[in-house]
Amino acid sequence: MNTDKLIRSAEKVCAAFPAFRPKLALVMGSGWREVAEGFTVKHSLDYADIPGLGAPQVAGHGGQLLLAEQGGAELLIFAGRHHWYAGAGWEPIAFPVCLAKIMGAPGLVLTNSAGGINPQVDRDLRARSDAARRSASTPAGAVMIIDDHINLMGTNPLLGPHHAFWGPRFPDMTGVYDADYRRQLDEAGRRAGLPLEHGVYLAVTGPSYETPAEIGAFRGMGVDAVGMSTVPEAILARAAGLRVAGISCITNAAAGMGQELSHEEVLAGARAAIPGLTRLLKEFVNEYRN
Ligand code: HPA
Repeated sequence: MNTDKLIRSAEKVCAAFPAFRPKLALVMGSGWREVAEGFTVKHSLDYADIPGLGAPQVAGHGGQLLLAEQGGAELLIFAGRHHWYAGAGWEPIAFPVCLAKIMGAPGLVLTNSAGGINPQVDRDLRARSDAARRSASTPAGAVMIIDDHINLMGTNPLLGPHHAFWGPRFPDMTGVYDADYRRQLDEAGRRAGLPLEHGVYLAVTGPSYETPAEIGAFRGMGVDAVGMSTVPEAILARAAGLRVAGISCITNAAAGMGQELSHEEVLAGARAAIPGLTRLLKEFVNEYRN
């Protein structure tokens, strides 16, 4: 990854909006684009016009940087996400973290769509037999606060020559997902009337969905949801000294726990959840304390 190039590009964006002081940065995952429309957008830039970022290629992932406002707080919103499977390298994935840090945002909220593996993490299914648990998944439409992650992408965005921008060579990954942010999200969920799950998110590269055998193995590892994003940005942000929150919209039952998977199902699952996700993020931002 060419971090110097990223920094130069981020500094240009920053210089174009000298009075903008984001209180928080947000990355909108698959299907979350419309959630961004719940905020007041003051400026927008196409990803395609930002060196180091560029347009993402998957339908439903958008591609605009929004300088927005909610309840008097300025927000840096990445409406659209780059994925490792697209083959464009780490730079477009790292850019949001780089710009958030350069603009002085203290925290980064990472959102995604994910396949549900574990039956409602701490709800009634806990009491059921193992066989019943194996055939039930976190219900589509559930919203899960990421408590921790497992990186099964077989790679890491910090591989390669060390750059001081990203903090120490061997950054600590205890408590990647800030405990205070998780508490604030719980409070926001209560105010929004949106039940929230908590769990472990596992990242694979994709773009193929998992096999039922893989999902069975992940379940045994203690995984609650699976997806193809978020972990690289979380690693970079934690290394760079930003506070991180992660939110998964469970759009489908993971492979072998429901019907065959399609990207359309994932997007439809996210679409159904948009009103609740919008309320959650607004409540979080309104009362946000760094
Ligand atoms: N697997 C991987 N990524 C996903 C899924 C899934 O089931 N759903 C949404 N993103």
